[in-house]
Amino acid sequence: MSERTFLLLKPDAIQRGLIGEIISRFEKKGLKLAGLKLLSVSRELAEEHYAEHKGKGFFEPTVSYIMSAPVVAMVWEGPEAVALCRTMMGATNPKNADPGSIRGSYAVDISRNIIHGSDSVESAVREIALYFKSEEILDYAKAGEEWLSE
Ligand code: TYD
Ligand code: MG
Repeated sequence: MSERTFLLLKPDAIQRGLIGEIISRFEKKGLKLAGLKLLSVSRELAEEHYAEHKGKGFFEPTVSYIMSAPVVAMVWEGPEAVALCRTMMGATNPKNADPGSIRGSYAVDISRNIIHGSDSVESAVREIALYFKSEEILDYAKAGEEWLSE
């Protein structure tokens, strides 16, 4: 079933010139881009984003890191997009990430792991609403959709 997921290219991805490279992977996979923006994350937004981790040792460093330079926020759509994108991202710790995955290809440390992606459909709904107004999410037909699944 078609789903939407929220993906965010973290500051290291932008600083290291990997925006195009990573977006290209999702495009080639066959997913449809439904929302896209470059932004600076405020402390309020960063703390909301990582609210589930409040109280953990890595909370403050992770919040500071995501605020440290611009990020690219995106909404991607497609069949089982949430799980598909998590697989493409690879494990949270790049040391354990499949070498062909995004984190496995481009990152070396858990504290700078390049990309965020929703871990469930419920998280996706919450995260999309944090970063996007409803009118910034576009619904449109994409050429070739009929070639992606039965
Ligand atoms: P988490 O939600 O567990 O991972 P994921 O991004 O794969 O959903 O953690 C959120 C981010 O917090 C993670 O991408 C990197 C950072 N983090 C650490 O720096 N150290 C840690 O031990 C963990 C678990 C996460
Ligand atoms: Mg997570």
